[in-house]
Amino acid sequence: MKGLILHENDLSPVVVRAVVLQLVVCCTVIALTLSCTTAGAKSFSGQKTGQTPTKSLMRNYEPSSNCSVCHAYIYEQFRESMHARSYNNPLFKAEFFNILLPRAENDEDLSWEARSCIACHSPITYVQSNGNISGVMNVDQNFPGVECDFCHTINSFKGPKPGNGNYISLPNRIKLGPFKYESDHHRAYAELQTKSEVCAVCHNRTNRYGLEIISTFSEWKESQYAEKGIECQDCHMSVQGFLTKGEPLYESGAVAEATLIPPKQRAKIYTHRFPGAHSESQVRGAIQLDIQVDDLTVHPGKEIIVVVDVDNSRSGHKLPTGSAELRLLYLDFVMEVDGKTIPLTANSLNKEKYDISGEGKFDATILGNDIPGGSRVYRAICVDHTEQQTQYSFEAVNIVFDNRLQANEIRKESYTFQVPDNVGDEFYLSAKLNYLRYPSNFAKKIGVPKAKPIEIASDRKKVVLNKQP
Ligand code: HEC
Ligand code: HEC
Ligand code: HEC
Ligand code: HEC
Ligand code: HEC
Repeated sequence: MKGLILHENDLSPVVVRAVVLQLVVCCTVIALTLSCTTAGAKSFSGQKTGQTPTKSLMRNYEPSSNCSVCHAYIYEQFRESMHARSYNNPLFKAEFFNILLPRAENDEDLSWEARSCIACHSPITYVQSNGNISGVMNVDQNFPGVECDFCHTINSFKGPKPGNGNYISLPNRIKLGPFKYESDHHRAYAELQTKSEVCAVCHNRTNRYGLEIISTFSEWKESQYAEKGIECQDCHMSVQGFLTKGEPLYESGAVAEATLIPPKQRAKIYTHRFPGAHSESQVRGAIQLDIQVDDLTVHPGKEIIVVVDVDNSRSGHKLPTGSAELRLLYLDFVMEVDGKTIPLTANSLNKEKYDISGEGKFDATILGNDIPGGSRVYRAICVDHTEQQTQYSFEAVNIVFDNRLQANEIRKESYTFQVPDNVGDEFYLSAKLNYLRYPSNFAKKIGVPKAKPIEIASDRKKVVLNKQP
């Protein structure tokens, strides 16, 4: 069952050892030539020098703040993104330092998991130390997260498919990117940078039990978006964070400022905010809800059936995607009558073993009171080797339930209920879809603040009562 191959191939690669060696040499070179990273970056003015991109100067990674000298606009976007905070994220740190590291001390498999966390959450630390860290002081605060210089030096990955941090990234003066014009001493074109595979090295993860606990890339690969050649970048690095009328809408302008030669104005540039579940304002508009009542005039006291369409056709993967053990969506559907709110229960509830209001032994302790009764929850349930639900990705051996919305899916939830007979002339139906990064009981257990539910979609419809017999 164990992903033993991963132990060997992905996390103690020859390449990494080679890098460490190079770094040692590199320090000497740097000391001798005084070509420290900052000086190197600042002296660049954007003109060609005829150097080939393969001729790399051996050096260390540069902090993202170095790039901000010329790429101020991109830097501002990046700084707000979760990539900048992938290590300095209270939840990650609490789970990593307080829960995982103490348990990993005398456990080889767990210490493999611990190194893997660093490979994705603090990749430069990983390349520099092979992920062996024993405390916060081991992470250089110049390079805590998924930094500019890390992504822009990824040139391939090890093995047949990307995932589990199997990137090959070497600190290099040449930054790889999407522009096809002739390479210069600062930059070069790399096709990989324009493909989902460059994301997949981190956005697909198989744990020590061989369980694919993050499968965003696999999900995308099976979607119609992969077929159509719509990459992660087309949605996540476009203006809205998703497609606008089926097409990516990009920003335009110059990608560098403060250079001697004014950089080109470009019609298509990639946004670096990487909106996702953490960025409230960006999430709205991607998912749509549509309340469908056959006849908007109904008779008091009669039973009606209402269908709510939950439309995930604009995301390129399941929703929620990413960390299967943590993420939740819930659909809250209510009737608003004379200023009062009456929750309605989805017909499908109680039919599925692990539903919130069902008998499921998994929910009460995990979800607590986060989710209003009757809500339809979309999530995966991971269990550990004792069959108990777990929210630690490194303990999950199996996903026993998964009703997340598929890429391109429009899920239909039906509700059957009685129209009240003692109300005025009309009432409203209101549906809200909320995203919860992690349940509050988990936050309490691990000692981090609660995650705030984010409303990502809503719909509201007026229903008129026909009082004629
Ligand atoms: C001294 C100014 C300067 C600094 C500092 C600088 N860049 Fe650039 N960069 C440029 C210019 C100019 C371009 C070319 C822009 C164009 O062609 O529109 C560029 C282009 C790029 C590209 C596009 C590559 C391609 O071919 O598609 C990437 C990626 C890039 N820089 C990354 C970085 C990173 C990462 C850093 C920090 C480690 C950095 N740059 C620091 C000026 C700079
Ligand atoms: C998570 C990886 C990642 C990080 C972090 C990242 N970039 Fe990028 N960047 C990309 C990718 C991928 C592209 C190309 C997208 C495409 O063509 O599909 C890109 C494009 C660019 C370009 C080309 C111009 C454009 O915007 O299209 C520049 C310049 C650039 N990045 C600079 C930076 C700088 C500077 C930082 C940090 C402040 C940074 N990047 C952080 C992945 C990253
Ligand atoms: C070196 C690893 C790495 C690479 C490469 C990478 N990511 Fe990420 N990404 C992460 C990590 C780790 C997080 C989670 C940060 C957190 O929540 O603590 C993340 C977060 C995100 C988020 C935000 C999710 C949220 O919940 O807000 C989006 C969107 C995203 N990445 C998209 C991309 C795309 C698109 C690419 C490719 C262009 C990419 N990433 C490349 C590691 C990576
Ligand atoms: C067709 C557009 C589209 C494509 C293609 C796409 N995404 Fe997304 N992604 C979305 C939308 C829409 C959301 C949900 C709303 C949001 O969070 O912005 C989302 C959410 C996410 C999240 C955070 C949400 C969560 O559930 O925790 C991550 C991480 C992410 N995407 C990564 C990726 C990666 C990696 C790829 C490529 C393998 C990719 N996406 C391809 C549109 C897309
Ligand atoms: C293959 C890369 C990879 C590995 C290995 C990995 N992660 Fe992550 N992790 C990610 C990405 C990408 C995300 C964001 C995706 C999403 O939206 O769920 C993430 C999200 C998380 C989150 C949620 C953060 C938040 O703010 O909501 C936690 C906690 C976390 N990881 C902890 C860990 C721990 C602990 C380990 C090691 C046992 C680990 N991760 C290993 C890539 C990885």
